[in-house]
Amino acid sequence: MPAPETALLQSWHHNAHVWIEAIRNGSIESRRQVTDQAILLAVLGRQPERVLDLGCGEGWLLRALADRAIEVVGVDGDATLVDAARAAGSTPVHLASYEALVEATVDIGRGYDVICANFALLHQDIIPLLAAMNALLAPGGALVIQTLHPWAVAAGDYQDGWREETFDGFQGQWQAMPWYFRTLSSWINALDMAGFRLAGLQEPQHPQNPVPQSLLLVGELRG
Ligand SMILES: C[S@@+](CC[C@H](N)C(=O)[O-])C[C@H]1O[C@@H](n2cnc3c(N)ncnc32)[C@H](O)[C@@H]1O
Repeated sequence: MPAPETALLQSWHHNAHVWIEAIRNGSIESRRQVTDQAILLAVLGRQPERVLDLGCGEGWLLRALADRAIEVVGVDGDATLVDAARAAGSTPVHLASYEALVEATVDIGRGYDVICANFALLHQDIIPLLAAMNALLAPGGALVIQTLHPWAVAAGDYQDGWREETFDGFQGQWQAMPWYFRTLSSWINALDMAGFRLAGLQEPQHPQNPVPQSLLLVGELRG
């Protein structure tokens, strides 16, 4: 059986086409209603000139930022998603796995005012990746992470560990994806261990929904 990290990225190779369709059709309600706007406002709120979108997928956020005259660069580990992002926009998009970014075997630029990761940190050992991103930020730069809200998805088991997303309720043929559940304190510790100071925490929510749709964390470079 492959390691969960390997199965995770493989699931994106398998699911790339159905994912592109789901995003471009706007069929994920929480994104349409709450979380797309939340990450966009969090990034724009930093008034960045240069942004790196880590795990950019098919590139919707790249396009939204480029439309606002922000210089933006994407990186993702799935070739189909990278091709789709390149074809739909004019921003540079690198094909690289997170492992390659940690080992710095690919040059994705540096001096970013914001590095954002929208539902893209799904593996266990995120600290080396966050530390590698730390080194790519400009002075005063920030990391903006949007992720599943741990209290909304804990399902009675509030401890770090691998879970499985089966994409029930999504249209099309999906392969299950392993993902690593992280408690709130685990997220904050990871930021700290990677050299970030927690500068903001939001819980984007829809007024008609009793649970938050996501957790949004902003980390600033520590002194
Ligand atoms: C839920 S999608 C989010 C995509 C995009 N940020 C968005 O908001 O639509 C997760 C993304 O993380 C990328 N990803 C997951 N594991 C990765 C890895 N080990 N290396 C590079 N990319 C990875 C996937 O290819 C996928 O595009």
